[in-house]
Amino acid sequence: MDLALETRKPTQARADVLVLGRYADGSRPHAEIVAVDRALDGLLSRVLASEKFEAKPGQISYFHSGGKLPAERVLVVGLGPHRRGGPAITRTHADAESVRRAASAAVRRARDLGAATIAVFMPPDGLSPRERAQAVVEGALLGTYRFDKYLKEKNGKVVRSLTVLEPDRRGVAGAREGLRLGRIWAEAACLTRDLVNEPANVVTPTFLARHASEIAQEGGLGLKILERADCAKMGMGAYVGVAQGSEEPPKFIHLTYTPKGRARRRVAIIGKGITFDSGGLDLKTADGMLRMKDDMAGAAAVLGLFQALPRLKPPVEVHGLIAATENMPSGTAQRPGDIVRAMNGLTVEIGNTDAEGRLTLADALSYAVKHIEPDEMVDMATLTGAVVIALGQGLSGVMASDDGLAARVLSAADAAGERMWRLPLHEEYKDGLKSDVADLNNISSQRGAGAIVAALFMREFTSGVPWAHLDIAGTAFTERELPLGPKGATGVTVRTLLEYLSSMSGRR
Ligand code: BES
Ligand code: ZN
Ligand code: ZN
Repeated sequence: MDLALETRKPTQARADVLVLGRYADGSRPHAEIVAVDRALDGLLSRVLASEKFEAKPGQISYFHSGGKLPAERVLVVGLGPHRRGGPAITRTHADAESVRRAASAAVRRARDLGAATIAVFMPPDGLSPRERAQAVVEGALLGTYRFDKYLKEKNGKVVRSLTVLEPDRRGVAGAREGLRLGRIWAEAACLTRDLVNEPANVVTPTFLARHASEIAQEGGLGLKILERADCAKMGMGAYVGVAQGSEEPPKFIHLTYTPKGRARRRVAIIGKGITFDSGGLDLKTADGMLRMKDDMAGAAAVLGLFQALPRLKPPVEVHGLIAATENMPSGTAQRPGDIVRAMNGLTVEIGNTDAEGRLTLADALSYAVKHIEPDEMVDMATLTGAVVIALGQGLSGVMASDDGLAARVLSAADAAGERMWRLPLHEEYKDGLKSDVADLNNISSQRGAGAIVAALFMREFTSGVPWAHLDIAGTAFTERELPLGPKGATGVTVRTLLEYLSSMSGRR
């Protein structure tokens, strides 16, 4: 999709469809929209009145302009109520999400109506021109995303160009920057979606490593790939143990983005990279296994993030880690009852081979602590079915050893419109992870709180470095269409991470 910024007024915009955003606050519409109505001899207000258009979020009304505007059709999209009261930051975040969702709904519908060129005017609100333009572009690109490469019959309706209208000259520079950021952020999330939507016979650990190397080459990033033997030699017994049942060679991927000038902080971002989770010898049921190609959604988010970083250039040193492997049953597979030693020296009894994510992450965290010495670490993992029971498919779970880091991650998620909720690392549940024969068991002997227990297990490998863990088992993949995307991979956490790293620019 080509993106452009124009200072034209909506009445002058040339496009197959002119999209106009509208708040549900009952007040007089924006002057530019009044001008459109006037050019149409009042058709706009008549159509909205006769349809009882309430400007509910995503509500749409459209009609032909009958040659009275350069735009062939006009499509009005509801933004919902304008936020009033409460803290300004909350209002800004809510308004940005309204614009994203409205742009997504409008551009999707315009595309389905056959529009190849679309111009969008969202009335000024609490957002800066940059924030508004970025939200429009994110909504448009995320909303029209498709994964159709394996279909013979593709939907031929494609939006060729999207023009953001910013008639106020004072807002042009900001809006142009918003356009640029929106594209980078959305493209990063869409890369993540692609990688998760690809099946596990394509996306193997080797494929992820190759893709990481392409991203590194393109962006001038540092890259280290560790092979099975390297990992064994470095003491990553927990990770290598998971990988030992698979014919596909594991790949430990370490990407590095180094800013020009002094880095304000050093951060490690770690993604669970199980390219297929069969459960291992503790085999999953057919139903449970069906979607397990998405067990590398955390890793895919790392790659999406690192595609964006060289284009954004935040003043933060960022390390991306992926301990990629399949989890397969075979004659060489890890057995229940096996004992492995992680890189930090702790021994782990394998209570269940299906609790493999925490084992691979244990060594990735240990590696980060030992070889990167970060100021803080964040991991994303499709880690537990339990988090889906606790929070459903609309919220990712956040578990953190540091309140400041947790607050910054949650605030970034809010700004990005990705819903997250913190769960407590309740100390007493650690007892359940005791083993008679090793330092830890990888599953708990007690019932319940599975998401928290998994996080408590992982915390043992963080050596006190501030750490936040995002359990995205419920949010990485969706079985129904969402406001910002179709069925399938969501690309969750990519925009939260971009926000988190961008907002770090001012710190320290
Ligand atoms: N990859 C799964 C978690 C998962 C479940 C992701 C559903 C997405 C949807 C993970 O490796 C797993 O199998 N976890 C087990 C842990 C249990 C054996 C302690 C689970 O949650 O059932
Ligand atoms: Zn598993
Ligand atoms: Zn898994």
